[in-house]
Amino acid sequence: MDPRPSIDPLPRHVAIIMDGNGRWATQRGLSRVQGHRHGKDSVREVVETAREIGIEYLTLYAFSTENWGRPRREVEALMRLLKRYLRSELRKMMRYEIRLRAIGNLRKLPPDVLDELRRVEAGTRHNRRMTVQLAVGYGSREEIVRAARSLARKVRDGRIKAEQIDESSFSDALFTAGIPDPDLLIRSSGEWRVSNFLLWQIAYSEIYVTDTLWPDFRREQFIEALQHYARRERRYGKTAEQLAEEA
Ligand code: IPE
Ligand code: IPE
Ligand code: MG
Repeated sequence: MDPRPSIDPLPRHVAIIMDGNGRWATQRGLSRVQGHRHGKDSVREVVETAREIGIEYLTLYAFSTENWGRPRREVEALMRLLKRYLRSELRKMMRYEIRLRAIGNLRKLPPDVLDELRRVEAGTRHNRRMTVQLAVGYGSREEIVRAARSLARKVRDGRIKAEQIDESSFSDALFTAGIPDPDLLIRSSGEWRVSNFLLWQIAYSEIYVTDTLWPDFRREQFIEALQHYARRERRYGKTAEQLAEEA
């Protein structure tokens, strides 16, 4: 393997919209499902690279709420692939001390997939080197509505006052509670949109869109994105001069 690249500063949390499997397959005269199969190899490589480089949190958009509306055969194939991925990766996650957690509305998942997900979550719970958040059946608007509802219930039951709802308590009511916001959001396949992903959490994330289709997004492309991030200036509303003074 090439020497460990030095990237400074390194994002703590990288979130990825893994898009373009279908187009990758179509370009090669393959079925969309074949594209997803190759996409799974990109997931493996990106997780390994993130772990090697020292990224603390990696969030992967694997299946959106809206993706439930795809043809049944494709949805079934994606679920099978997810289950197979979880099965095959558990041992590696233990060896590399990777914790896996799922975010999204998991109740819609087929029971065998949910069981596998819970098994890997439970097995890797104490791993501390890196956290992989797998967004499955995930939709950010749904997540925000759920959070609002749970806070409203707490107010109704007198457990908190309405005035106590602030950005921090709201964050804690989301699926991503306890996880810092993404520093970098990557989207593959050249689509400049967010597709209902982490709307609250990406308020100040740097965004990187690449034309590379997800099955071709491997170690090299990931490192390129990280190097791009390292050159950005994060201003958080301030001026460049203010930042220079603070440094
Ligand atoms: C991303 O690839 C994977 C999922 C959304 C599950 P797509 O299947 O969306 O691929 P394109 O966008 O059709 O190329
Ligand atoms: C976003 O990709 C969801 C995932 C990558 C899981 P889509 O392919 O579903 O997004 P749109 O439909 O192009 O916005
Ligand atoms: Mg797509």
